[in-house]
Amino acid sequence: MEIVDLSEHAEDFTADPYPYYAKLREAGPVHRVRTPEVEEMWLVVGYEEGRQALADPRLSKDWRNSELWADGEGTAISDNMLELDPPRHTRLRKLVVREFTARRVEAMRPRVQQITDGLLNAMTEKGSSAADLVDALAFPLPMTVICELLGVPDLDQDRFRAWSNEVVAPTEPEATEAAVGEMGLYLSELIEEKRRTPGDDLLSALIRTQDEDGDRLAPGELVGMAFLLLVAGHETTVNLISNGIRALLSHPDQLAALRADFDGLIDGAVEEMLRYDGPVKNATFRYTREPVEIGGLTIPARKPVLVALASGDRDPSRFPDPDRFDIRRAPQGHLAFGHGIHFCLGAPLARLEGRIAVRTLLERCPDLALDSDGEPWEWAPGLLIRGVRKLPVRW
Ligand code: HEM
Repeated sequence: MEIVDLSEHAEDFTADPYPYYAKLREAGPVHRVRTPEVEEMWLVVGYEEGRQALADPRLSKDWRNSELWADGEGTAISDNMLELDPPRHTRLRKLVVREFTARRVEAMRPRVQQITDGLLNAMTEKGSSAADLVDALAFPLPMTVICELLGVPDLDQDRFRAWSNEVVAPTEPEATEAAVGEMGLYLSELIEEKRRTPGDDLLSALIRTQDEDGDRLAPGELVGMAFLLLVAGHETTVNLISNGIRALLSHPDQLAALRADFDGLIDGAVEEMLRYDGPVKNATFRYTREPVEIGGLTIPARKPVLVALASGDRDPSRFPDPDRFDIRRAPQGHLAFGHGIHFCLGAPLARLEGRIAVRTLLERCPDLALDSDGEPWEWAPGLLIRGVRKLPVRW
């Protein structure tokens, strides 16, 4: 079957993938595509087909089932639940799932509010009237929250941010490999330090699990868990806040409606931000264990499959008038957090942080506006993340 070459449009595709997704959807729900990153893969662009693919056990998350990395070895951080199938996935997820239930997360509300207030105090102090919202709020809020939860409050945020950016939005293979190696080493040291001075936190609890019952959490799994929670815990939420604020500030009617009724509309507004321009444009790679038919197309075994979450969430057969940003839409069933057994573990936390950040920012800055001077946005590269590196605002 014919291959769709997306590399020809790579820059436009990164800046605004939606028209490309729309064209692909019109031609069919699944396509064989080429991108600058991957020679050949299958891209699922329909909502229904995407949702089914995310829950299909014939699609593996384990790189060992892929011909792409056939000769490879795992990396220092690849032993994590998002890159594993049951039963290992089930075992690892079970160890942390109770930390992220809606009830546990709701108990964190006062602290999330306090961190947000502190960041906004710093942003608006001394009569300043302009800032980069990514640096001032969208990055430090989720980073601080996940560091406190894990018990690593003095994490070297600058270095970690640089490695983490490279891992989720790769620039060059060599740079990614170096970032993975350095991050793995750093996390191993962090875990050793924690082992010496344990506290009342998640990482200490995970270390105890390992020590008490050696076959439950191997050292590599501990590093993988710390990596996944720290990276997934902030790389995505930063873009929920920044994409969401960008959408609101460029839709004044929606912004005004929200400002007039925060209590009634903030939860739905955050869901619409996730649907309309979510932080994860494509789910992570899945690999066919056997030939798998999706949307009338048979994908051979061991091939990489990407579910385009951002395309499913703009599929008009599921969301009428999908390109309209409408905070009253109630877009239940959107795919921004994925679907099936790998459904985002941190969704309740991300929602809490998003709601508090957006509301508090708008309340504190009644005349908040974009301040980009028509400069083009600097987009995160790669297939995974949808978001800008900087979001200049003024008030
Ligand atoms: C708006 C913010 C967030 C978005 C849009 C998001 C999105 C996603 C998506 C789409 C997946 C599934 C990927 C796939 O199936 O390929 C996922 C998985 C995951 N997310 Fe999130 N996430 C967010 C915030 C968080 C936070 C705050 C945490 C905190 C710990 C987190 C932890 C995880 C973990 C551990 C997984 C893997 C779950 C598994 O494999 O069972 N995420 N996330």
